[in-house]
Amino acid sequence: MDILDLIQRRYTAKQYNATKSIPQEKIEDLKEILRLTPSSINIQPWKFTFVQNTEIKAKLAAVSMHNTEKINQAQLLVVFSVADDLDVFQKVVDNELPAFRRDWYNQMKASMPEADLKTWLAKQVYIALGVGLTASAALGLDSTAMEGIEADKYKDILNMNSHQPLFAMAVGYGAEEDFNRLETTPKSRRLLESVIESI
Ligand SMILES: Cc1cc2nc3c(=O)[nH]c(=O)nc-3n(C[C@H](O)[C@H](O)[C@H](O)COP(=O)(O)O)c2cc1C
Repeated sequence: MDILDLIQRRYTAKQYNATKSIPQEKIEDLKEILRLTPSSINIQPWKFTFVQNTEIKAKLAAVSMHNTEKINQAQLLVVFSVADDLDVFQKVVDNELPAFRRDWYNQMKASMPEADLKTWLAKQVYIALGVGLTASAALGLDSTAMEGIEADKYKDILNMNSHQPLFAMAVGYGAEEDFNRLETTPKSRRLLESVIESI
């Protein structure tokens, strides 16, 4: 399938087939694909938590607003978090990034309020969501991006100290009867000429 077909056919799954397992190989591919996400100055301020454990997934589902049922049904939940303790993250920058990147980051950090720096870091994590949604489709899997989570409760359940959860992505095989499948709910987008300008 070419990339346009793939993007036209992907949809947000609202119901999953709870009994159809995802081959572990595909999950391992998804981990590596997320790791390879690009980011500004290659800063990589993320953590991706792959939750397959059904008990932990159920705890997270219970604090996921209108998304509870789909998280319980889906075989995989990926939680996307951003570095939140900037002192801890500084050690990552110092130890794992080349000097020219580190200098760039340090300059940015010195030149803006902490809240703005954190917003910029969080934006980088959203790039990984785009990659993850597209990659899921390419792997023959259905997915759901979800900002509808109680992030602070996720943080407690996952025992996170230096990261802040931002959103999650359910992954699995969409249920045949899902009303959000394209057969029942065709793709809805603004017109090309409204959103694309060609000069
Ligand atoms: C950042 C983001 C957050 C979203 N949060 C939710 C959510 O919490 N629950 C849900 O069912 N769908 C959620 N969606 C799905 C969107 O509503 C959906 O992508 C949009 O309506 C377009 O439909 P499509 O993905 O089926 O093409 C989210 C999508 C994005 C990109």
